[in-house]
Amino acid sequence: MNIVDKINKLKSELDVTVVAHYYQKNEVFNIADITGDSLELAKKSSEVGTQFVLFCGVGFMGQSVKVLAPHKRVIMPKIACCAMARMIDVGYFDENLEILHKAGIKDDDIYPITYINSSAEVKAKVGQMGGIVCTSSNAFAIIKDGLTKGKKIFFVPDRCLGQNFAHDMGLKSAVVGIDDIDDVKSADIICYNGFCSVHQLFTTADIEFYRAKYPEILVAVHPECDPSVARKADFCGSTSQLIKYIAELNIDQKVVVGTEYNMVSRLREKNTYTLSATKPQCPTMNETTLTDVYDSLLSIKQDNITNEIIIDDSTARYAKIALEKMLSV
Ligand code: 13P
Ligand code: SF4
Repeated sequence: MNIVDKINKLKSELDVTVVAHYYQKNEVFNIADITGDSLELAKKSSEVGTQFVLFCGVGFMGQSVKVLAPHKRVIMPKIACCAMARMIDVGYFDENLEILHKAGIKDDDIYPITYINSSAEVKAKVGQMGGIVCTSSNAFAIIKDGLTKGKKIFFVPDRCLGQNFAHDMGLKSAVVGIDDIDDVKSADIICYNGFCSVHQLFTTADIEFYRAKYPEILVAVHPECDPSVARKADFCGSTSQLIKYIAELNIDQKVVVGTEYNMVSRLREKNTYTLSATKPQCPTMNETTLTDVYDSLLSIKQDNITNEIIIDDSTARYAKIALEKMLSV
């Protein structure tokens, strides 16, 4: 029996749903029961009927399922941590608040929004402060709703997402620790200085290269790209929005895509390029292998589970407030 057959046999014997993010390796993606972007997976995995959810993705994604569905046992073949999520913890969050306090901006003056790419502890901090979670799919609606609170938005941890949505909405953004403090004081969206190391690989020079080579080409990028790149693109959207945009193009229309390689490689058979001279694979998403999936399933069967997501009650309680608020917008 090959490893895929062994995995399928274990899946049929166990009360488990295997879930994979679009950025997973093809071998893992192909054996999943549910696939999707971070928003789709947070919703769908927390609603499945099985006791176990085997989540192939990065740590914050498994944590979100556990927070939304605490009765489920969430196991990750690899608890790989998203590089951006690692750029912020509650200590760094508080240091940013201190800088804002010194500039005369009080906690009551801000509405915190955390990108889903953050730990459960950061989500809990945001939930405790009355804030909300967003993903790249719903950030526009969440920010628009946030603006009705009559406060400044404090957006963590992805500065590019904050800057790109501020630009699209005609708002002023500034990054704590980077921009002049007077600019931070007058900004509508105050951004934390985090970013995705994978999406930072795409540059305006890459766009110019492809436009010079194929004058008719369209450029589609993820909003985690630098604002200079997002502004030069024909389309900027979340993972599922990129999939939809590209699926609706004529197959003869060339398109170059600025997002994770595994996802781009599955999009279309031809006329699709990756916007980078290097292979933009997310290192942590790529940590999970078929062998890890098999070992995890076997650990469930043998009742010696490793890599189970456990979140303390107080963190889970406040993180849930911020996540459920997102799902209700
Ligand atoms: P999505 O929300 O589009 O799935 O993106 C998650 C992510 O980590 C992108 O780098
Ligand atoms: Fe995190 Fe970037 Fe990987 Fe997405 S692509 S999981 S933001 S490191």
